[in-house]
Amino acid sequence: MWVENAWYAASFLKDIGDHPKSVTLLGRPLVVFRTETGKLAVLDDRCPHRSVPLSFGRRTGEHLRCSYHGLQVDAEGNCVRIPCQDRIPANARVRAYPVAERHSLAWVWMGDCAFANADEVPDFHYLDDPEWTACTGYHFINADYRLLNDNLLDLSHESYVHDTTIGNDAVAEAPVKVERTETQIRVHRDIWNCEPPPFYVKATGFNERINRWHTTIFTVPSTHVIENGSYPASSSRSHALERRVLHAISPATPTSSHYFWGVARQYRPDDHELTEYIRLQTAETFDQDKQILELQQKALERTGDGAFSLALATDKGPVQARHAIERMIAREKELRCGVNREKLAQ
Ligand SMILES: [Fe+2]
Repeated sequence: MWVENAWYAASFLKDIGDHPKSVTLLGRPLVVFRTETGKLAVLDDRCPHRSVPLSFGRRTGEHLRCSYHGLQVDAEGNCVRIPCQDRIPANARVRAYPVAERHSLAWVWMGDCAFANADEVPDFHYLDDPEWTACTGYHFINADYRLLNDNLLDLSHESYVHDTTIGNDAVAEAPVKVERTETQIRVHRDIWNCEPPPFYVKATGFNERINRWHTTIFTVPSTHVIENGSYPASSSRSHALERRVLHAISPATPTSSHYFWGVARQYRPDDHELTEYIRLQTAETFDQDKQILELQQKALERTGDGAFSLALATDKGPVQARHAIERMIAREKELRCGVNREKLAQ
């Protein structure tokens, strides 16, 4: 159910301090730590000696020391010190993962190291570009990551889930346009001449009828950039105020996901009160998503139904995203089979 050859967000960089941090991605417990000289490392969270989580350990200079018997590993996962013995066995090591620090986040490559290319980290530059003012947040959601994708690719739910913040009836009524490339799906809605939802009034100052739009740009397997904007219906698009909403979803287990998000804007950049308002309102909005998604996850587990036993026109984006993920997983399987066949032939 998971694409392995992909960059996944593991933490906001600001949340990685002097102490090792435990993060589970794709069902694998990992430890994230920064050495004293600043090198970021991600390793399997298991001491090669007696399996105690290394995240329970302590940073000692460039190494991570297990808090059980004191073995030390370096940022590449090699055991470099064993108390009481000089010989270090060859298998005294843990898997180290390629890592990239980009756009305020630590990204981890969970697949074959040979394919890791830091240039392919999702473009979330809005989070640290001085041209944009951003706020960020995090939710842990007890739901399959694909349900989070579905949620962001069908924003008609704003009308019903988020009617106290970003939605009203006009959203669900607006027609939807879906475009697809090999790795991206774009779902667009123009919502013309509508009442501004509560968040839009405060976040833009527009309290008359507005034209608004949003485009969800989904990149396989689980990142989304939502472009949105609005302007008074009585004026023109040149008066629009735009935002970008960034979503990096990292599967933790088959039924839980990390959800790293951010909202960036280019207007009133120094208005800190507005930044805080947007952060709090977005957190509240995603609390509402969390509640719905966790209810949905439980219901699907109970009934054993597929997520799309009844598919509607607005499900086109979500269904295409699932197909794109399935194609990528199938390709990874073929790749692994090919490698295994080569090994057998040798
Ligand atoms: Fe939502």
